[in-house]
Amino acid sequence: MLRIFSLFSNPDPMKTHRIALYPGDGIGPEVIAEALGVLESVQQIDETFRLETTTLPWGADYWRETGHVVPDDFLDILRPMDAILLGAVGWPAEIPDHITLAPLVKIRQTFDQYACVRPAKLLPGVPSVLAGKGPADIDLVVIRENSEGEYVNVGGRFRTGTDDEVAVQTALHTRRGITRVLRYGFEMARRRRQHLTMITKSNALRFAYVLWDEVLEELAPQYADVESRRLHCDAAAMDLVRRPEMFDVVVASNLFGDLLTDLAGVISGGLGLAPSTNTNPERAFPSMFEPVHGSAPDIAGRGIANPVAMILSAAMMLDHLEQSAAAQRIRAAVEQTLADGCHTPDLGGKLSTRAMGDAVLARIQGRPAAR
Ligand code: NAD
Ligand code: IPM
Ligand code: MN
Repeated sequence: MLRIFSLFSNPDPMKTHRIALYPGDGIGPEVIAEALGVLESVQQIDETFRLETTTLPWGADYWRETGHVVPDDFLDILRPMDAILLGAVGWPAEIPDHITLAPLVKIRQTFDQYACVRPAKLLPGVPSVLAGKGPADIDLVVIRENSEGEYVNVGGRFRTGTDDEVAVQTALHTRRGITRVLRYGFEMARRRRQHLTMITKSNALRFAYVLWDEVLEELAPQYADVESRRLHCDAAAMDLVRRPEMFDVVVASNLFGDLLTDLAGVISGGLGLAPSTNTNPERAFPSMFEPVHGSAPDIAGRGIANPVAMILSAAMMLDHLEQSAAAQRIRAAVEQTLADGCHTPDLGGKLSTRAMGDAVLARIQGRPAAR
């Protein structure tokens, strides 16, 4: 009887989430191993959810064996998942990037992951590359439009290999696509400091970015509680360095968002710390979580990559899966770890990937760890 009662009062005591793990290439598998340790630990502490993982051996190794980066049915394999956790893809010494990276872009577009959320927050204990700027000055989030813009596969090459060769690469910007990503940005600004900067370039690109400007003008009155402005992309690049405190939520098109998030990453401590989502807000498809950084071939295999960007991406995945207590537990541990001076070489420290992962884990578990 008691058991029946407890079942009714708590109908779903242990929620299971199906996770596709795509470690990928270079430092991808190195950093994802640390994120998995952290995820395992918060599951054990919370005991309210379970991650059922499926590891996908795709990427450069798979290409060496099969001649393909992913199997033909990769989208069908991913579709039933609740989320995708990706390390990094790309091994340019052997395989051209546009081949290795094509499935990644395809996942984002097919699963309509139109909101790419990239927070950039300088945490206490992390050295700033900007003179005179500290944690109080750098706390922004870029919402990158992730489904259209310059990344649509529209174009072609003509008279290939001749002196008269022509390449056409067409960007596509739709009113619907701009509207939904701006709304997403406005909603986020409401939950933050009520400020939104939309990145444009309407002084030169007279079709696409004039449309972006017009959609912002139309939407702004519906979010009168949010102060909004537009800024040309070149000026935004300058101001992210000169006065980063002017930014709260930044909404940018696909390519502008790509460029500005490497910059936002570096002013907030480097790519080793910068997490990212590829979110389908309607939850019609799985969303994907990955660091902003790539496979870092220059340091791959040396065990020195910073796993924090990957660990924070895993925390963002937990937020999306509505396991916010576990996500918050991870973020708090990361913040404490960095504040305690635990740093990998990219931050001027000496910790290995493994030791940094363990330092975060120790703080989650409340046990002592080597610095
Ligand atoms: P990158 O982000 O891999 O590396 C840029 C620099 O940042 C390198 O010096 C690298 O050592 C450093 N870095 C990156 N992550 C780090 C970490 N966790 N810890 C310490 N240092 C780190 O960019 P890249 O060198 O231009 O690209 C390498 C490959 O990755 C290419 O094939 C590229 O196409 C691919 N790429 C993939 C993704 C992705 O999978 N989402 C993203 C960006 C680039
Ligand atoms: C990123 C990456 C990708 C992008 C590449 C690797 C296709 O740079 O996630 O920022 O341009 O979106
Ligand atoms: Mn990028």
